[in-house]
Amino acid sequence: MQSNRIRLGIVMKKIDWIIGIIAITAVLFVGSAFGKTDYCIQCHSEMDDSPKSPAVLIKSDIHYQRGLSCADCHGGDASKNDAEEAMSPKKGFVGKPSYRQIPNFCGRCHSDVEYMRKYEPKLRVDQLQLYWTSNHGKMLKKGDRRVAQCVSCHGVHNIKSIKNPQSPVNKINVPATCAKCHADKKYMHKYNIPTDQYAKYSRSVHGKLLLEKRDTSAPACNSCHGNHGATPPGLASISAACGECHGINRDLYNKSPHKEPWAELGYRQCVQCHDYHLIKELTDEDVGVGNNAVCIDCHDKGDGGYEAAFRIKASLDSLKYDIRIADSILAKAKKSGADVGELTFELGEASKGLIEARNRVHSFSPDVVGEVTSASMQKINIVIELGNDSLKALWHRKIGLILTSFLILLVAGLLYLKIRRVEKKK
Ligand code: HEC
Ligand code: HEC
Ligand code: HEC
Ligand code: HEC
Ligand code: HEC
Ligand code: HEC
Ligand code: HEC
Ligand code: HEC
Ligand code: HEC
Repeated sequence: MQSNRIRLGIVMKKIDWIIGIIAITAVLFVGSAFGKTDYCIQCHSEMDDSPKSPAVLIKSDIHYQRGLSCADCHGGDASKNDAEEAMSPKKGFVGKPSYRQIPNFCGRCHSDVEYMRKYEPKLRVDQLQLYWTSNHGKMLKKGDRRVAQCVSCHGVHNIKSIKNPQSPVNKINVPATCAKCHADKKYMHKYNIPTDQYAKYSRSVHGKLLLEKRDTSAPACNSCHGNHGATPPGLASISAACGECHGINRDLYNKSPHKEPWAELGYRQCVQCHDYHLIKELTDEDVGVGNNAVCIDCHDKGDGGYEAAFRIKASLDSLKYDIRIADSILAKAKKSGADVGELTFELGEASKGLIEARNRVHSFSPDVVGEVTSASMQKINIVIELGNDSLKALWHRKIGLILTSFLILLVAGLLYLKIRRVEKKK
């Protein structure tokens, strides 16, 4: 009864909503039918109706969709059907902004907190401010006309919400948008910086994840460089940039014995070992004092780091060795017909210690790594014991089976002889 009434209530609310929506649509429809003509759009579309004309493009622009139009950006009077009157500087008409003027032209609204709050209170209003701190902004101020400004990244007259998959700054499209300039050798020739960022990034674990698997948990260019403050992350902020996603590695690094001395020496935190656009995926072989290990790039026999590297590698190797032994015992037991489902599960759980240990390499401390490898090994040794027990139990059962079969055969034989003898006597 109670729930029926609640359901009825929900249905009534839905009906209220539907009526409301119909009413609003009707008002909007009537409003636009009798509303003023936007002569900017009308005249410009009569003048040029090519697909690239502002008057055509604007229909898919978020500003137009939110009720803004030509005059909101360019100024002028949209109610006048005369070019001179409509585009009169007296009516605030500014025409086409120059390359240098564009950031302030867009930022006029986008940095106005009160204005933007009326449309979308959650939208950030720091784009202009951040932009002037970026290398793009700083060089634009000095008169450079090749650096990016708002329109280079967002387009113009068909500006889309960043959530729209067609937006050039939708996460998946960001690398291609930056590459338009940064991968163009000719365009970038007068600047002394490489043009391989996109090529390297798209081959990296990050780039493949975003561009091929379309997995947006991977970073795009702006995840590390910021949306509007594009600069190379400074030495001190690299681990913070990577740590946005690799938080455990960051926290361990910040407590590690590398943090302070590396900062003094100007070493580049995560990037010193992993590089940046073409990320190096390091493995267990990179830990320790073997020929491939990164640790011996800087540490020599006899110093604290060398010994630590050796011990960390030993912990990882011991854990992996135990996992292999446990694996082979469980495989043997399974092949012989034992039920090892639960032990296999236990082994899987205990083996997760290896993932954590690889994480903990970033403490660069044998004790911190050893803590988790020892705990895992203890659990794995129990699995090994129980696995061996079940193998032994299998053997015992087999031997028992052979013995019983033998006894049965013996009794049957004796019985047979006995019967033969009785029959002979008869
Ligand atoms: C009656 C026709 C007409 C009306 C109305 C009109 N325009 Fe224009 N507009 C033109 C013509 C013609 C040009 C010059 C075309 C060219 O040079 O390519 C022009 C040029 C422009 C330019 C480019 C200026 C530059 O510096 O290159 C902008 C921006 C512009 N109009 C915006 C507007 C806006 C905003 C409105 C409404 C407030 C508007 N127009 C109303 C006809 C019109
Ligand atoms: C969100 C702000 C914005 C709105 C809305 C807008 N414009 Fe523009 N418009 C610009 C900017 C910025 C430029 C300069 C682009 C550049 O230099 O690449 C520009 C350039 C122009 C130009 C000259 C260059 C060209 O593309 O031909 C014309 C003409 C123009 N706008 C007309 C219009 C008309 C007509 C409308 C309405 C249909 C309109 N604009 C709406 C921002 C806007
Ligand atoms: C170098 C490229 C680039 C330039 C230059 C640029 N933007 Fe952006 N913009 C982006 C990217 C990338 C995003 C966000 C993507 C995200 O958050 O997923 C963005 C997001 C935005 C948003 C959505 C809200 C937000 O901040 O996340 C607005 C509004 C915006 N930009 C306005 C501007 C204005 C205004 C300018 C010029 C002052 C500008 N942008 C310059 C790349 C750029
Ligand atoms: C007249 C004020 C005004 C000007 C000038 C202006 N914008 Fe906007 N912009 C807005 C408003 C209002 C919205 C809609 C906010 C909403 O509802 O999401 C918006 C939305 C956007 C968005 C979409 C943000 C999102 O939701 O993802 C981008 C990107 C953007 N503007 C970029 C620009 C760029 C680039 C320029 C300069 C060419 C510019 N704007 C000029 C007022 C303005
Ligand atoms: C319109 C072309 C253009 C676009 C688009 C563009 N950039 Fe740039 N960018 C430049 C130019 C030119 C420089 C100046 C090179 C310099 O700093 O000497 C630059 C500088 C930089 C720098 C500073 C490099 C340094 O060491 O000085 C970074 C970082 C950067 N851009 C990142 C980005 C990112 C990230 C994007 C995309 C979100 C992007 N850029 C989009 C043209 C562009
Ligand atoms: C995982 C983080 C990350 C991503 C993703 C990333 N960068 Fe970088 N980028 C860096 C770091 C860190 C540096 C600076 C290294 C240094 O200063 O030693 C850098 C440097 C740069 C520079 C300066 C010149 C150079 O090559 O050293 C430019 C330009 C640049 N990045 C553009 C881009 C572009 C374009 C993309 C996307 C295709 C991108 N970055 C993706 C982290 C990243
Ligand atoms: C926006 C999130 C994000 C940022 C920022 C980021 N990464 Fe990643 N990274 C990922 C994701 C997602 C993966 C793939 C999943 C995984 O293996 O953890 C990954 C994978 C990796 C891997 C390979 C992991 C493996 O299993 O071998 C390394 C190494 C790496 N990132 C280092 C870095 C470094 C160094 C930086 C900073 C210069 C950085 N990442 C910045 C999200 C990020
Ligand atoms: C002194 C060199 C060094 C530095 C500095 C370093 N790493 Fe590593 N990193 C390694 C090695 C070696 C491995 C491989 C560990 C293994 O597989 O046993 C690794 C593995 C990784 C992995 C994959 C394993 C995991 O933890 O998920 C990620 C992600 C990673 N590093 C991110 C980072 C980040 C982020 C930073 C900076 C905060 C960083 N690294 C700093 C050497 C380094
Ligand atoms: C780019 C050079 C570099 C690399 C690569 C490097 N280290 Fe270091 N490490 C240093 C410097 C510099 C110090 C501080 C000076 C010192 O104690 O030797 C240091 C200190 C240490 C310390 C503290 C030593 C003490 O006596 O307090 C440990 C532990 C350590 N490193 C372990 C490692 C391990 C493990 C690796 C490999 C995963 C590694 N390091 C890779 C440069 C490096």
